[in-house]
Amino acid sequence: MLVDDLKTTLASSFSFFLKTANYHWNVEGDNFIQYHPWLGELYSGVYGTIDQLAEYIRTLQAYVPASLVRYQELTKIACQLEVVQPPQLFTQLLQDNQTMIDLYNQMFDVATQEREQGIANFAAERLDFHQKYAWQIRSTLKTLPGAQ
Ligand SMILES: [Fe+2]
Repeated sequence: MLVDDLKTTLASSFSFFLKTANYHWNVEGDNFIQYHPWLGELYSGVYGTIDQLAEYIRTLQAYVPASLVRYQELTKIACQLEVVQPPQLFTQLLQDNQTMIDLYNQMFDVATQEREQGIANFAAERLDFHQKYAWQIRSTLKTLPGAQ
């Protein structure tokens, strides 16, 4: 059901936002001046979707999960307990960004099946956003010392 995809994507967006904020706050090194604002733009872009996802859940007449315990149960993004630095930071980010792409692809397909064209349109826009970041992360990793 579409509402389940929305709940999973809401919880995963919250986790992705927090993990990217962690990187924004804790990243160090030669390229700090570039990495810090770039990570800030990414987490702001994801944070901006949380209210939209919640309101779509209400539109579908369900209640919005809104607790860290519930998000922990629902999220597809693993918690980041330690501080990580590039290149591992970008390897992890690429993987989590791909999880967001997979979630939005699933949402797009289910929204289309359920004739919820507005939500399908929202999912398509979010796919554009995350695919742009996938390209930027891949390009960053390409020449980063120590990256595989
Ligand atoms: Fe900041």
